[in-house]
Amino acid sequence: MIYYFSGTGNSEWAARTLAGLTNDRVTRITKKTLQPVMVGEGESFGLVFPIYAWNMPQMVSDFLKNVSVHTGAYCYAVCTCGADAGWAMRLLRGRMHMDGVWSLVMPDNYIVAYQVEDDETALNKVRDANVRIQQIAAQINARKTGCADVQSGKFALVKTFIGGHFFNKYARSSKPFRSSYDCTGCGLCEKVCPSENILVAGDMPFWSDDCQQCLACIHRCPKHAIEYGKSTEKHGRYVFHYSKDQIEGK
Ligand SMILES: Cc1cc2nc3c(=O)[nH]c(=O)nc-3n(C[C@H](O)[C@H](O)[C@H](O)COP(=O)(O)O)c2cc1C
Repeated sequence: MIYYFSGTGNSEWAARTLAGLTNDRVTRITKKTLQPVMVGEGESFGLVFPIYAWNMPQMVSDFLKNVSVHTGAYCYAVCTCGADAGWAMRLLRGRMHMDGVWSLVMPDNYIVAYQVEDDETALNKVRDANVRIQQIAAQINARKTGCADVQSGKFALVKTFIGGHFFNKYARSSKPFRSSYDCTGCGLCEKVCPSENILVAGDMPFWSDDCQQCLACIHRCPKHAIEYGKSTEKHGRYVFHYSKDQIEGK
């Protein structure tokens, strides 16, 4: 089974593509699915998630606390990131045995800090990721062990520990979320939130204090009616939307 966490679809695409190439199935990690997982001898355990502040999302970390893996199981993880993953995969390997860890560079969705990439840059990243994921799947199918091919980036250790600390302490607050008059109360934000942190009442969303910062609510709002403080006002939105033909350049 491949377990994935995803806000805007990059990691979901990676998980589903890997599942297709390795003849496996996928399960999305959400608050609802945070249940104990037992991986038996000869079974495989795949994990796919986006990088947040050079580390794994808090919900993925919580999910792993309930995973028990037989020593004879095959385990691997793939992270998706806009640029680099820092020490995230090293920390993951410190927590549990991993036969393979890889990173996939994909379009960056962190619009709290950055503008979205232009279409050409984003599509090129997806095309490169598609080539790379075939290679990753081949290694998984061959049950290769000791694989570690991760784009860690410069100052990886410092970024993970210092950036990660500040991110969890200050950047995951729900307070800056707000909806504009364009909000129709459609409820999509409530549905897509993996941590059940949003309640739509009286045609308006309200955020509680368990935000993962996946930004699914902002990016997926059909009316572009959700902002996070002032920083997202001038930034575009991104959701993985590429067809097979686009990715394969047909
Ligand atoms: C809160 C947050 C923090 C992020 N931090 C990083 C980072 O440290 N390094 C990086 O390369 N990309 C970072 N990104 C970009 C995402 O990792 C990347 O766009 C990922 O593919 C999104 O996956 P998803 O579409 O499955 O949600 C961050 C995105 C978010 C929302």
